Amino acid sequence: MVEPLAVGIVGAGYWGRNLIRNFSTSPDWQLAWVCDKDQKLAASRVEAMPAVRVTGEFSEVLSDETVDAVAIATPVGTHYELAMAALTAGKHVLVEKPLVATLAEGERLVAFAAEHDLRLMTDHTFCYTAAVRYIANMVDSGELGTFHYLDSVRINLGLVQPDVDVFWDLAPHDLSILDFILPDDIEAVSVSATGADPLGIGKATLGYLSIGLSTGAIANVHVNWMSPVKVRHTIVAGSKKMIVWDDNNPSQRVSVYDVGITTQNDAESRLRRLVGYRTGDMVAPALADTEALSLMVGEFAAAITEHRDPLTSGADGLAVLRILDAARRSLAQGGGPVAVGATT
Ligand SMILES: NC(=O)c1ccc[n+]([C@@H]2O[C@H](COP(=O)([O-])OP(=O)(O)OC[C@H]3O[C@@H](n4cnc5c(N)ncnc54)[C@H](O)[C@@H]3O)[C@@H](O)[C@H]2O)c1
Repeated sequence: MVEPLAVGIVGAGYWGRNLIRNFSTSPDWQLAWVCDKDQKLAASRVEAMPAVRVTGEFSEVLSDETVDAVAIATPVGTHYELAMAALTAGKHVLVEKPLVATLAEGERLVAFAAEHDLRLMTDHTFCYTAAVRYIANMVDSGELGTFHYLDSVRINLGLVQPDVDVFWDLAPHDLSILDFILPDDIEAVSVSATGADPLGIGKATLGYLSIGLSTGAIANVHVNWMSPVKVRHTIVAGSKKMIVWDDNNPSQRVSVYDVGITTQNDAESRLRRLVGYRTGDMVAPALADTEALSLMVGEFAAAITEHRDPLTSGADGLAVLRILDAARRSLAQGGGPVAVGATT
């Protein structure tokens, strides 16, 4: 039997509470510390767990030599400082999405973790859901055919975040899913972003991202904190099959349509724009209902003990930041396409 690893969680707010529940019930982990600036809040989260120590000072967690790893669930603007301090103290680090608040910080963090041979993981929670794994498997196995597009809608009456706009809050989900399911030979090359600030609070509260891919395919992401209804709807289309993922429909989250549009490739057909429609069955696969976060914390432990990159690594967090940074630059110049990875 392998000894569980000791973890300290910093940030016991809305999402930290979910991490506390999953780390504390995982056989791979021993929850050693919960840290929050609001020490009363931290204490209230672990009332029924007397062995867990509570503090308002992160340095206390870091100076505990028995702690192997920390998980960071504080506001985005604090991620870099806390993660860097933890890596400097020799701890493995899990950071909530988005990894950090700027691309430059992300690059420094990923490089530092690699130099010091420490695991850096980003909590891209959706990559641990059965739905996303199913979709990724369909792309990977060739069953979907050539990747045509992704179209994702993530809208609700959302909490307006104090330190980030709606793109940095909600789009990391869609962008991490895109990065996870795309074949390795397809990459995001450009981003056009449009956002609006109807509340006049100095940041976009709704917006659209159009991501150009290296094959000419596109991915479209719509995020909105000001929608009267909650929609979590993604279409992933290929030349052979099309998938509809409705995360708000637990009895049929994923529907796979055997439909397609075919064209003849001879000059005459192209000239007359002849297309054929293929319609076949729709299949709704049975998917496991395991909580994604429980798989995520298991993967963090496995990556540490097996001395390998986690499934959603710091580098994957960086891939998301590259698109968010391009979106930021596109917004600043009024919405036109900008190159992913450029620096101006
Ligand atoms: N993976 C997901 O699906 C998901 C969902 C929601 C939020 N998140 C992420 O989780 C993080 C936290 O979001 P939230 O909604 O829980 O925020 P929150 O405001 O509810 O909680 C943040 C907590 O961090 C504490 N805190 C802030 N700075 C601190 C510091 N320096 N030291 C100790 N404690 C500190 C605050 O007191 C607060 O209790 C964000 O990065 C967010 O993007 C991820």
